[in-house]
This record gives sequence, C-alpha cells and structure tokens, in this order.
Amino acid sequence: MPLLDQLASLLGPSGLLTGSDMTGFESDWRGLYHGRAAAVLRPADTAQVAQAVRLCAAAGASIVPQGGNTSMVGGAAPDESGAQFVLSLSRMNRVRELDRADMSITLEAGMTLKAGQEAAEAAGLMLPLSINAEGSATIGGVLATNAGGNLTVRYGNARDLVLGLEVVLADGSVFEGLRRLRKDNTGYCLRQLFVGSEGTLGIITAAVLKLAPRPRQREVALCALPTAEAALALFGRFQQHDPGAVQAFEYMSGTGMALVNALIPGATLPLAEPAAHYVLVELATPREGGDLRAGLESVLEAAIEAEEVLDAVLAESEAQRLGLWMLREEHSEAQKRAGASVKNDVSVPVSRIPAFLEEATRVCEAMVPGIRVAPFGHIGDGNIHFNLVQPEGADPAGFLARDHALMDAVGAVVQRLDGSFSAEHGVGRLKPYMMPLWRGGAELEAMRAIKAALDPQHLLNPLVMLPRP
Ligand code: FAD
Ligand code: MLT
Ligand code: ZN
Repeated sequence: MPLLDQLASLLGPSGLLTGSDMTGFESDWRGLYHGRAAAVLRPADTAQVAQAVRLCAAAGASIVPQGGNTSMVGGAAPDESGAQFVLSLSRMNRVRELDRADMSITLEAGMTLKAGQEAAEAAGLMLPLSINAEGSATIGGVLATNAGGNLTVRYGNARDLVLGLEVVLADGSVFEGLRRLRKDNTGYCLRQLFVGSEGTLGIITAAVLKLAPRPRQREVALCALPTAEAALALFGRFQQHDPGAVQAFEYMSGTGMALVNALIPGATLPLAEPAAHYVLVELATPREGGDLRAGLESVLEAAIEAEEVLDAVLAESEAQRLGLWMLREEHSEAQKRAGASVKNDVSVPVSRIPAFLEEATRVCEAMVPGIRVAPFGHIGDGNIHFNLVQPEGADPAGFLARDHALMDAVGAVVQRLDGSFSAEHGVGRLKPYMMPLWRGGAELEAMRAIKAALDPQHLLNPLVMLPRP
C-alpha cells in the first residue's frame, strides 16, 4: 500500500489533512518560507505518533514536526518538494497530571503554552514561562526551541523547567522519560538533549514541567530612559533592592516604541515625552502584604534623582498593567506591519549591551541608509532582538536580499563581544549557514554525530539547524 494510504488508514479522516486543508501549515509566521507538504499528520496519541513515524521511516519519508508554527526562523515549515510530512500534535492537548505536592504538571506537547499556564493557575500555581506567542505556541514547540521569553530573568529558559519528557524517536521507538525527579544522575541526561533540538532528534509528545508558587502581588512600571547604560544601571538597582522580586525586565528602543504607537490600534504611550530608550519592569512576589509597591517607588525615585530615569508610569490597575505590557508585546506585530524585517536574536554578556547597541546600530545605518533599527527584548538576560526594519517606502524584497549581509555584520559585532547569534529563537532553516563559523570544529562534529546516531536516515527536520555536510 502507498505510504499516504497507510497513514490515512492509521490516523483516520480527522488525522490526515491534504490539499487546501493544509493552508496555514505550509508557510511560516514571518512569511519567509512557503512550502508544499505531502500531507499534514495529526495523530491522536503517542502510539499513533510512534506508528506514523515508523511508517515514514520504513518509506524513507521526511517529517517536519510542527506546533503552533510561530517559529521566527522558519523551523516548522516544510520545503517545496511536496515530499515532506508535517506532523502536528494539535490533537494531543491534554493535562495528563498535576501534582501539587511535587509542584509539577504533565502536559501533552500539542497543548498551547497559554492553556498550560491556565491549568497551573486553576490549581493556584504558576507555569513560569511566558512568550508573546503563547496563545498559539505549544508545549512541544517551546521545548523543542528551548524558548526564553519574558520571565527568563527570574525562572530561566524552558530547559530549566523540564523534569521529564516523552519522545518518539526517528525509528518510531518511544523514550519514556516522564519522570518528575528533582535529582536523577542516572547516565546521560537525555531529556535535555531533546530540549532545543528543533525537531531534529525526536518528536516530543509530553513533558513534566516544574511549577512555581503563584504571585500574589505584582507591580509594573514603564520607564523612559536617556541611554542604554541607564537601563543597566536601573536593572542593577532593582537587583540590589530585591533580586527575587524582578520577574521581567524588558527593553524597548524609541524606534520600536514609535512603530507600536503608529501601527497598533489602541496602543498609547502614557508618558509626556517620547524617549530614546524604555524599560518595562515587573516585580512580583508570592507573599501576601509587604512593600512591593513601596520598593518599586523608592528604586524609581532614586533613579530619577540620579537622572537615569527621565519619567515613569506605574500601573494602577490590572487594565493598566495589561496596557503597559501591550506596548512591549506588540513589538513583533508592529514590525511585521512596517514591512520587511531582518531579525537578529542575539545575546551578549549583560554588561556589554550598551556597547553592542551602539556599534551594531552604527554598522547597520552605514550599510542601509534609512534603515529603521528597532531593538527590543529581554535585556535582563542579555538577549536583544536587534531587529532591522526596511526603510520607509523601500522595496521589501530588495531589503530582504541583504539579510545575510546585515546578519553577518551584526554577527561580527556580537562575536567581538563574546555573544551568540541565536539566543532564544533557534537556528531553524534561516541560520544553519552560520553554524560552522559559530560552532565549528569539534562542537559541530559532535552535533552531527548525535544527529547521525539518533536519526541515521536524516528524516527529522533535515533542513533545520545543522548545515548540509
Ligand atoms: P513551531 O514554530 O511550530 O516549531 C518550532 C520548532 O520546534 C520547529 O523546529 C519544529 O520542528 C519544532 N517542534 C515543534 N513541536 C515539536 C515537537 N512536539 N517535537 C519536536 N519538535 C517540535 N521565542 C522565545 O524564545 N521567546 C520569545 O519571547 C518569543 N516571542 C515570540 C513572539 C512572537 C509574536 C512570535 C511569533 C514568536 C516568538 N518566539 C519567541 C519564537 C518561538 O520559538 C516560538 O513562539 C515558540 O517557541 C515555538 O512554539 P511553536 O509551538 O509555535 O513551535
Ligand atoms: C519577543 O520577545 O517578543 C520575540 O522573541 C521577538 C521578535 O520579534 O524578534
Ligand atoms: Zn524574545
């Protein structure tokens, strides 16, 4: 029987999509990749995933795992061959278990991150991972990319939350690692190998994640700053005041904020004057009572006194808190509306961020007159989305034709400052060409050996992460 018929009989009518039903699965969020899939497979449980993978392996057919398809680097889009199968876990979206005593939750990989957060909240706890695509991004996707996001400064990246994993391997066997141990040094830590592997080593079908106490108090402020150095000085002040309380510390450039104001309906900057730099800080504590608000005010007063903060607005209600966060969360959408963007998801040691911003801006402005340099991101982690928006009115295709030149120029600055060209979004299909420069020699060879051992036929997401030998 042809492979497609075998898969159809395994998965049933709602488990296999073809033709126009595949729209939405074949292109990426940024609109950089437009592929064609052989079919979209939607298994209902781990046994069906394993069986589907086994059938594909026997036929030598390639699989592209896909979650919410929010990848910023084209990691979940099929190629144009029409021969790859997209494997979506959207039907596997249950909470398998929540254990209050162990502070853990076992989620199926197709559940959205937001649904996972809500399940934890319903139990009075918190799943401490938050990204601005959480309504669509899935547990499988955030683990496969080791997503970071807005809470990393306090709780770490996705990797830091993983206690156990269930993974279907490239031959269809199942790694049953849904353990919830806080300590377990039994051999290699295989689960961490799959976290951040971008669908190249196995299909994550479920995970046990750590939960945290739910914050009982939260305070948010948006601050206008004169310089990037002032952002770091402010971060230092908050960390010194109460390191455990800083839940998010996010940076936005004046250019990025202006785009949000201009292009996102309902977005309004609640400050008297626009500034060159902004920071959004969120403090939170699981304790009742206490002086969170007073602490926020006293740190800001001292920073204003020292002229590190020009102006600040504190949220007085939940609606205002969400309004301030919206100014940060809508940055990606506003930049999408402004035309073509070249995204550089970079990290440098936190102390070097001002030097990075200054040098990289100078280099890019010299390369493309009129370019809109609109950096923003998780400055508390040293992670800046150094996004470059096309000059107003320019031809988007012409601008994108220079993407490698711009990425390489920014990369050269990052490299001088001992940073990384791939901080949290992953390598995807967009950046494998950069791997030999950044992870060459023994490191890249070890990665290739791991891939060859776990996926000897190179069937799982073959265009992603590792450059073709
Ligand atoms: P997809 O995009 O579908 O897939 C991503 C990669 O994971 C692909 O390589 C895919 O093959 C693989 N994959 C997916 N599911 C599985 C699985 N079950 N098993 C194995 N491999 C799998 N990222 C951050 O880190 N921090 C942010 O703050 C952040 N903000 C974002 C904001 C916006 C508006 C958008 C659009 C994206 C943002 N991202 C961010 C990018 C980020 O990588 C994703 O949003 C998220 O991690 C991907 O989840 P997903 O389910 O959409 O995965
Ligand atoms: C975010 O933090 O909002 C995303 O990771 C960013 C992006 O658009 O580059
Ligand atoms: Zn981010």
